[in-house]
Amino acid sequence: MDEQRQFRAIKGVRDILPPDSSLWNWFESTSRRVMESYGYREIRLPIFEETELFARSIGADTDVVSKEMYSFQGRDDSSVTLRPEATASVIRAYIEHGMHVNPGLTKLYYIGPMFRRERPQKGRYRQFYQIGAEVLGQSDAPAIDAELIEMLVVLLAECKIEKWTLLLNSIGCRDCRPKYVEALRKALAGVKEKMCGDCQRRAETNPLRVLDCKVPQDQPVIAQLPSVPDYLCDACRAHFAALEEQLKLREIPYTIAPRLVRGLDYYMRTTFEITSPVLGAQNALVGGGRYDGLAELLGGQPTKGIGFALGTDRFIEAIREAGKVDAALRLDVFIAWLGGPASKQVYPVAVRIARKLRGAGLCVELPPEEMKLKKSLGLADKLGARYALIIGENEVAAGRYALKRLADAQQRELSEGEIVEYVLSQRNAQKT
Ligand code: HAM
Repeated sequence: MDEQRQFRAIKGVRDILPPDSSLWNWFESTSRRVMESYGYREIRLPIFEETELFARSIGADTDVVSKEMYSFQGRDDSSVTLRPEATASVIRAYIEHGMHVNPGLTKLYYIGPMFRRERPQKGRYRQFYQIGAEVLGQSDAPAIDAELIEMLVVLLAECKIEKWTLLLNSIGCRDCRPKYVEALRKALAGVKEKMCGDCQRRAETNPLRVLDCKVPQDQPVIAQLPSVPDYLCDACRAHFAALEEQLKLREIPYTIAPRLVRGLDYYMRTTFEITSPVLGAQNALVGGGRYDGLAELLGGQPTKGIGFALGTDRFIEAIREAGKVDAALRLDVFIAWLGGPASKQVYPVAVRIARKLRGAGLCVELPPEEMKLKKSLGLADKLGARYALIIGENEVAAGRYALKRLADAQQRELSEGEIVEYVLSQRNAQKT
């Protein structure tokens, strides 16, 4: 006989089970509602793309591209990759479908899994979930940046997450960033031997990436390096000052983080993160920024862009920590039907009433097989039902049914027509 083998989910990926999945669904639908109220529309993207798309947009020397991508050979020998993020795909789609002709700004959001081969730990998975949004078009007005951030603040409030910090920076543009990178390169030349192997390499290939190094011993060295805001050109300085004004008028508190360059190469000017103090080491709830110029890099027209992605896994954790959202689904009615020899008459009535209640938006459990009343009521209780509806031979004959409230065993007799209305009115009364 074959050895019995049990399978388990592979390292760094996990199942989201009920009842947790209810909170995930609540969060996703709340995010959709908030983003749609700001004029964003959903884009559904492929899970895999040409490897080159990510290498070119995120940058070959980033951790994501150099170490973390799940790449494999496609049929025609070209390399394809499970998406590690979705901004590159959004820009690819924007160009491919000629969305630059859309009136005004193109505002898109996406929801779904991303894949990075990182070292798994709390809050860091190899298959994780993001909700992200991008604004593309011809304007780079700071009000766009501020409104995008406002939308996130609204979402945090909807989730009753009160403790968070908005970290904000500008990393300059094509004109001023090279000067900063040069200054960084020079400063690194004197200190890089004290740093980790990755930083020694990055000091040569992509000095900006040294600033997102997480190795603890490197942090004192990084703190002494030149700071990006000191090198901003007048236009970038003015953009950042206007963004600060825009945030103030929206009463959004922020902290300037002069070394926040983010781990992806496509950013230009605004970069931001929202962190949570309750999440431990992996404390970034949201990351985002401006990426004017990325569309050109991917063969499109000159386009301005800004966006963010939030980590759903981490948001869910923060919502749970805050403890103020109840997304649990409750069973409204358990139908306890029984009829013995007469069950052929009883069961069709139970089916009909179940369908009616479900049609009114109530959650109903109808046992597939007849059960003794005591067993039915016991199961209804274990399942957390609000009511048990008792349908037996006598009830069918009289056209009146016993609706039992399980919390206090209070019982009332109702006709078929009254049941839906009564359960709905009680549920609504509880909500208000
Ligand atoms: P990112 O900072 O790489 O940015 O990821 C955004 C968020 O995704 C992080 O703040 C975190 O909450 C979550 N996240 C990232 N990696 C993991 C992981 N391994 N496990 C759990 N959560 C994770 C981006 O992806 C950019 N595309 C954001 C963006 C959009 N910038 C402009 N537009």
